Amino acid sequence: MAERIAEEKLNEIRQAVDIVDVISDYVQLKKQGRNYFGLCPFHGENSPSFSVSPDKQIYHCFGCGAGGNAYSFLMEAEGLTFMEAAIKLADRANIDLQLDLSAVSAGKPVSKENQQMIEAHELLRKFYHHLLVNTKDGQHALEYLLGRGFTIESINKFEVGYALGTWDFVYKFLAKRGFSTALLEKAGLIIKREKDGSYFDRFRDRIMFPILDKNGNTIAFSGRSLGADEPKYLNSPETAIFNKSKILYNFHLARPSIRKLQQAVLFEGFADVIAADRSGVENGIATMGTALTDEHITLIKRNVQSVIICYDADNAGVEAAFRAATALSAAGSYIRVAQMPDGMDPDDYIKKFGADKFRNDVIGASIPFMSFKLLYYRRGKNLQDEGDRLQYIEKVVKEISRLDKAVEKDHYLRQLASEFSLSLDALMQEQQQYTRVENRKTTSKSAEKPAKKWAGAMKTEQLKPAYHTAERRLIAHMLRSSDVAYKVQERLAGSSFNIDEHQAIITYLFGYYEDGRAPDPGAFLNYLQDPKLKRLVADIEMMSINEEISQQEMSDYIKQVLNYQKMLMIKEKEAQEKEADRQKDFAKAAAIAMEIIQLRKSL
Ligand code: UTP
Ligand code: MN
Repeated sequence: MAERIAEEKLNEIRQAVDIVDVISDYVQLKKQGRNYFGLCPFHGENSPSFSVSPDKQIYHCFGCGAGGNAYSFLMEAEGLTFMEAAIKLADRANIDLQLDLSAVSAGKPVSKENQQMIEAHELLRKFYHHLLVNTKDGQHALEYLLGRGFTIESINKFEVGYALGTWDFVYKFLAKRGFSTALLEKAGLIIKREKDGSYFDRFRDRIMFPILDKNGNTIAFSGRSLGADEPKYLNSPETAIFNKSKILYNFHLARPSIRKLQQAVLFEGFADVIAADRSGVENGIATMGTALTDEHITLIKRNVQSVIICYDADNAGVEAAFRAATALSAAGSYIRVAQMPDGMDPDDYIKKFGADKFRNDVIGASIPFMSFKLLYYRRGKNLQDEGDRLQYIEKVVKEISRLDKAVEKDHYLRQLASEFSLSLDALMQEQQQYTRVENRKTTSKSAEKPAKKWAGAMKTEQLKPAYHTAERRLIAHMLRSSDVAYKVQERLAGSSFNIDEHQAIITYLFGYYEDGRAPDPGAFLNYLQDPKLKRLVADIEMMSINEEISQQEMSDYIKQVLNYQKMLMIKEKEAQEKEADRQKDFAKAAAIAMEIIQLRKSL
């Protein structure tokens, strides 16, 4: 693949794009010293172990080991091929790759078909919107929306539309524009009749909400019935371009506001997102009628840490809010929950009480997840009853013991003590008992699985044997200077590095230098094909080392590398010596003992 783009173009791209910029689209980065840090997008974590070096133009995660350059980042984050990542980066930097695009799509036929599906959706989105706002056929639908409190501005902003009640208008409309029947069926826009194999439109006489992916491509629709027709919302089926469990409604439009406010508001429905937007809450997103998935959580976490959950104030909504809050919170998000009077949803609320009240008394008055739990665990309990009351208190104290901060614990314990006229001391004692039990659980867990925290990773570096560190340091210098690389090769005199991956890296590195290339960590990462080696190189690049390696330092490292091999040999010889002893071949045993002494001396 890489051969299709000229080497100088790749260099041009690398010089024009800044990895910090690229990664900032996915991760919130904070500068610390020379590098930037953030939460790793490739594994769930609560404390930042993901670092980006603007000097070296590489990234590395101390937690999960992910690492590489801007190309590998896009490949991993978006699941792109090298070619696709290059096209994306070139696009960013306004560099014309002068690619024969037919060659690219020939290599990726799926991608071309996806592109056509998107085109069909884009055309339809405009057409549906036109029908709603400009035609007589759409007038009743427009009146329905305006009657519900939608404004023309938000209908335009969200490109809401209307699908005619006829059976095959869309089919004909798109077929006339060259879209094949097979493609339209795959895209979920038309459905085949069982009896005669003819086709009809999926969406008829419905208000159409276009669903956009995070890049702003229209990839699906959700159509709301105007009357009592079931289902209330009819969604596009899962297709090659649309996967409900990955899509958050309005994410594309909301992203700038989410970034600016450092907060997202999660709703249950489209109507809620649009009503909230009309009230000035522009950072709203919603799932597509499904529970929050891990993919949704990953997408949210890449963009923002703080989330307000604003679900319907009915039983199902409260349960769903509790589940979403628990999952997001476990992934390290900071959660608040917005509340409304019983039975209302955000859309109803805004219609009844207005935008200001929604912003101030619902979103502005959202409560921390722990306060929400205090209310949640009360549901279905009669706190006048002693049994229920004790059960409730125990449940809540257990939850409080899981809080991170002492001041928070203190706050909620006081609240509980005062509400139920209990002694604060007694509550504190009980809470501490739970904390101890929890601690025991977590320590035994971390014994099975080494903590993936940064601090942990830094420590393991020290725990690794000396030759391991020596090899890494040598590689770090070899990556920066071909002179050093050849000197090390000479000093190793035919011996290899002890760690297979290290040996693989230097083998590739000599190949790279022999092609006449200059030292350049970014370029070398592109040269390497194996993602495991790429990660390792990024990790090594991130080590801080002296600018230059002294003779003494190099000798020490080489000695460590070779000594380990001698140690292995000594161990082997010792075994042989024992075996000779056992067989009473004392002459042989003595000869081996001599060899061992020689080897020891050379260490
Ligand atoms: P709701 O039933 O709460 O609808 O479903 P709503 O948002 O209040 O809509 P209006 O105000 O009645 O128009 C919430 C979400 O669940 C999904 C949709 O994504 C909807 O926005 N849903 C609901 C479906 O996918 N299909 C349905 O039939 C109903
Ligand atoms: Mn509603």
